[in-house]
Amino acid sequence: MSDSSNLTAQLDEAGGLRHLLRLKGLSREFISILLDRAESYQTKVAEGPARDKLLKGRTVANLFFEPSTRTRASFELAAKRMSADVLNLDVNMSSRTKGESLLDTIYTLQAMQVDVFVVRDASAGIPDYITQNTMPQVSVLNAGEADVSHPTQGLLDLLTIREHKHTLDGLNVTVIGDIAHSRVARSLAEGLAIMGDNELRLVSPIGLKPDMDLYPGASFYEDIDAAIKDADVVVALRIQRERIKEKSSLMTSVEYHQLYGLTEERVARAKPDAIVMHPGPMNRDVEISGPVADGPQSVITDQVHNGLAVRMAVLAAVTEARLP
Ligand code: CP
Repeated sequence: MSDSSNLTAQLDEAGGLRHLLRLKGLSREFISILLDRAESYQTKVAEGPARDKLLKGRTVANLFFEPSTRTRASFELAAKRMSADVLNLDVNMSSRTKGESLLDTIYTLQAMQVDVFVVRDASAGIPDYITQNTMPQVSVLNAGEADVSHPTQGLLDLLTIREHKHTLDGLNVTVIGDIAHSRVARSLAEGLAIMGDNELRLVSPIGLKPDMDLYPGASFYEDIDAAIKDADVVVALRIQRERIKEKSSLMTSVEYHQLYGLTEERVARAKPDAIVMHPGPMNRDVEISGPVADGPQSVITDQVHNGLAVRMAVLAAVTEARLP
């Protein structure tokens, strides 16, 4: 269900954005337009947040069936700053806990004239399944799908890299951590492959090595120091314990930090102007040291800032695609 060949068309016949489920399948031009739109929503702190009335009269429902801070808060703020009515369903208080099926929840909210469903779920294929069961005027935005896809995270990562490196082509990008369970790595890899000729190096303990068929063209390293050498961009990922059944096979946090933690010594092996990224939530002194997370090369706060702009751009794109 999670393979892109089964995905409902993300673009409509006119090339507008109908749903956003994966970055794979989108063109370089289309992603560039989304990133440019997101850039137009970036403001300086003194100016206050960007606002737009484009979603006035529209309703956005945030359905997060997995925990979230950044994605949920930024989708909510993005929709509100674009003048939408916003519904945040408290999943633990919803009737799914009384046995109602996911589709009955969707049909119930659709009857209340929801225009956009923002969906996070631990199971692969759920966002696409919803697209196949909603009315034609409804859009579905994937806000994190199992270990498969997190397209708005991929877009905000691309925007952050473009902002700092002024290109999305010819870069060396090193991603360190639990790649096997990472939707963030999947979406970033898809985006980087679309946007240019980039070298992607994936680093993890062998037990967290991904299926490399999912990362065409990427190289796998167990040796973090070799992988970081001369990188333009270094991304640290947390170990996703919630997706790992056999936790006894994992090394301790102290061991992990010694072997794979992003420390100042390790960052020094990258290019002097390399940027350090982390999608959050962050475990300090496990996958990344405090001084690196807060250091001069860290762009982690920019990622969060850009996340809001990217989500505004995606909401704008699906709304404009529906305008008569
Ligand atoms: N990066 C990310 O998806 O963070 P949240 O889980 O807090 O949304």
